[in-house]
Parts: sequence; structure tokens; C-alpha cells
Amino acid sequence: MSFLNEDILSYLEEHTPPEPELLKKLDRETNLKVPYPNMLTGHIQGRFLSFISKILRPKNILEIGTYTGYSAICFAEGLAPDGHIHTIDKNQEVADIANRYFREAGLQDTITCHRGDALTIIPELDQKFDLIFLDADKENYPEYLGMLKEKLSPDGLMMIDNTLWSGKVIKKAHSGDHETQGIQKLNNMVNEDPELDSFLLPLRDGITLVRWK
Ligand SMILES: C[S@@+](CC[C@H](N)C(=O)[O-])C[C@H]1O[C@@H](n2cnc3c(N)ncnc32)[C@H](O)[C@@H]1O
Repeated sequence: MSFLNEDILSYLEEHTPPEPELLKKLDRETNLKVPYPNMLTGHIQGRFLSFISKILRPKNILEIGTYTGYSAICFAEGLAPDGHIHTIDKNQEVADIANRYFREAGLQDTITCHRGDALTIIPELDQKFDLIFLDADKENYPEYLGMLKEKLSPDGLMMIDNTLWSGKVIKKAHSGDHETQGIQKLNNMVNEDPELDSFLLPLRDGITLVRWK
């Protein structure tokens, strides 16, 4: 899930701040024990998420798609003092690993894990967020965009992962490929909406930054 060749990728790894030891361990355990370990954010994109969080110093973060907790721990590095992260995943198995690592990082009181379908849980969250990271069911990305707009603070930033989808976005999607279709529709919605500013960053699998004007 990277558009860079191996040599450039190695150079980038060498010239990116090192991955914290706990995150290295989480990456290893995820690769050994959990299906689809390529879903984990990983070293380079993880340092980018941490960097953005450190610039924004958000008080509240909402993440859709906890998986084993890697990206949430990266975001926590930039949280404002007394800040809080809400993260949602429907898969209990990965939640157990995430919770264990949140405890090991001392983040058990900083991160609230919601278990269940994000499309049901998001409308029940009665607050706004300074930073939102969407990284879950791609087929529902268009629906999430409107739903999450309502939850974003004025001047808040939304980040949407996998918006290049291994390059599949440039070809017509098969009729049954709802994930590619969802991402293509989202990308068009973001690009055509005059009420928002956006940038599709070709980092890893593509990550779109969105703010409402
Ligand atoms: C790509 S992974 C998230 C990776 C994680 N953000 C990271 O960087 O390590 C996507 C996760 O979304 C979860 N998911 C998919 N559809 C969902 C839904 N409708 N509600 C809640 N979680 C969902 C999956 O169980 C999976 O763990």
C-alpha cells in the first residue's frame, strides 16, 4: 500500500523520526496474530498522524476504526493536556489488543473505546471534535462524510484514510466492488463541494485532509 519504490521507502524510513518501541511491538504482534495486518497505519504514516496532532493540539479526537490501536496511540502524542480520544470499532477481538496497548501506554483514561457499528454510534456522541480520523468501512465513506461534518468543531480537521485505495480509484470499479465505489464517490464529493477545503496527500495509500470553510 505505497506508491513509492523500495529504495525511496527505505530512505524515507531512515529520515523519519524513529517509531516508538511500544508501537514497534504493537506492529509486530499485529503482524503475528491478527488478520489483515496491512490495515495498521505503520511507522511513516503514524509519525505523520502524530505530527499533525502535535500541530493542532486537539482537545478531542474521534477515530473511526481502532483496529489494534496504532493510530490512536500516535494521535495521543499530540493531545492537549486533559484531552480525550473516542475510538470506534465493531470487532471485539482487535479491541482487546488495542485496550492492552492503551493500558501499556498509560492511556487507559485518555482513550474511550466504543464497540459496535460506527454508523450507529457516531450520531449518539453528543459533542464536537477538533480532529476526526476516518479509517473504517470504505463502502460507507460517502455516508460518513455528512455524518462526521456535524461532529467536527469549527476549524476542526478531518483526515480520511485510503483515498487512493492501492490505485484502484483511477479505474471504473466492478459492479460488486462497493469499497472502491465508496472511495471514488467520497473523493468526488470532497472535490466538488465548494464549502470545504481539501488536499489528497499521496502518503502510503492516500490520506485526504478536509476542513470546512
Ligand atoms: C483499517 S482498520 C483501522 C486501522 C487503525 N486506524 C490503525 O491505523 O491502526 C479498519 C477497522 O475498522 C473496523 N470497522 C469496519 N467497519 C466498521 C463499522 N461499520 N463500525 C465500526 N468499525 C468498523 C474494522 O473492524 C477494522 O478494525
